[in-house]
Amino acid sequence: MAGGKQAGLALALATRNDASRKKLAAQANAEGRFAPANMGAPAAPASGEQAGRRRTGLRPPLKWAGGKRWIVPYLEELWRPHRHRRLVEPMCGGLSVALALKPARALLNDINPHLINFYDYLKAGLTVSIEMVNRRDVYYRYRDRFNELIATGQADGAEAALLFYYLNRTGYNGLCRFNQKGRFNVPFGRYKRIAYVNDFTAYRAAFAAWEFTARDFAQVGLKPGDFVYADPPYDVEFTSYAKEGFHWKDQVRAAQWLADHPGPVVLSNQATERIWKLYKALGFSLRRLSAPRMISCTGDRTPAQEVLAVKNL
Ligand SMILES: C[S@@+](CC[C@H](N)C(=O)[O-])C[C@H]1O[C@@H](n2cnc3c(N)ncnc32)[C@H](O)[C@@H]1O
Repeated sequence: MAGGKQAGLALALATRNDASRKKLAAQANAEGRFAPANMGAPAAPASGEQAGRRRTGLRPPLKWAGGKRWIVPYLEELWRPHRHRRLVEPMCGGLSVALALKPARALLNDINPHLINFYDYLKAGLTVSIEMVNRRDVYYRYRDRFNELIATGQADGAEAALLFYYLNRTGYNGLCRFNQKGRFNVPFGRYKRIAYVNDFTAYRAAFAAWEFTARDFAQVGLKPGDFVYADPPYDVEFTSYAKEGFHWKDQVRAAQWLADHPGPVVLSNQATERIWKLYKALGFSLRRLSAPRMISCTGDRTPAQEVLAVKNL
């Protein structure tokens, strides 16, 4: 296909100067050149849709299962008196919350290394130089290349970051699924048109004062004054964010870890009976919310019951 060689060349070019880009971004950070935009008085609560339009000049760059843009109006109220604190999201996913709250300082972590690699490169300044088209043949070729990079230990470069973005936007339902060997295996999506982002410059400024890490939440170094917003995978049988999965023992581990934090904590999850009981027993205040499901493997779009659990607020 016409763009094949071009795309391969562009990917190769994109990987050049990665070290220098990261170094430059680190310098900019150290010098404190970042001044977050629109850091004035927080907006009054609004519907998720209104809030999203008004607040975010910057939309989450990826499609991400379990995205919590709709929950932002509730979080804003809780966050407002604490916005001088560092925001820590131990399971940051698609970044819909951080991009909406716009904290001056943030530690954003997720166990998915490809996701964090993409954010690291946005922060360092990622130039889109691959051909991004919504075509099955291109998709599978890029998927093969992405898996080759994983297999050969090159999944932490700019090429992998760009491919991850393309695969996320073009693949089925924005899913991020890996098989037991860690190979990305999401099929081609069914979109008529895709609005690919071709200029990521704005993310570079927004991310400049934010730190990204890729580890298990329990390895995130919390400071006592941190404001923690945790959004673990739903308490359901099947989760596909990472090859390790997220089981009931992990839900319990997360709840205990959050309960141990002496600063403000907010948790959202599916309001199953056992999640409700777990957080209640650990001294959290609970609130039930009705939510639209934005991505569902079964196509089921009925509202889910969610819980917002807070502590030290
Ligand atoms: C519901 S999503 C978060 C969505 C996010 N709040 C948003 O608005 O896009 C849950 C996230 O938890 C991450 N995750 C799963 N297991 C984890 C673990 N053990 N430690 C840290 N993150 C984990 C997943 O990769 C996924 O991105």
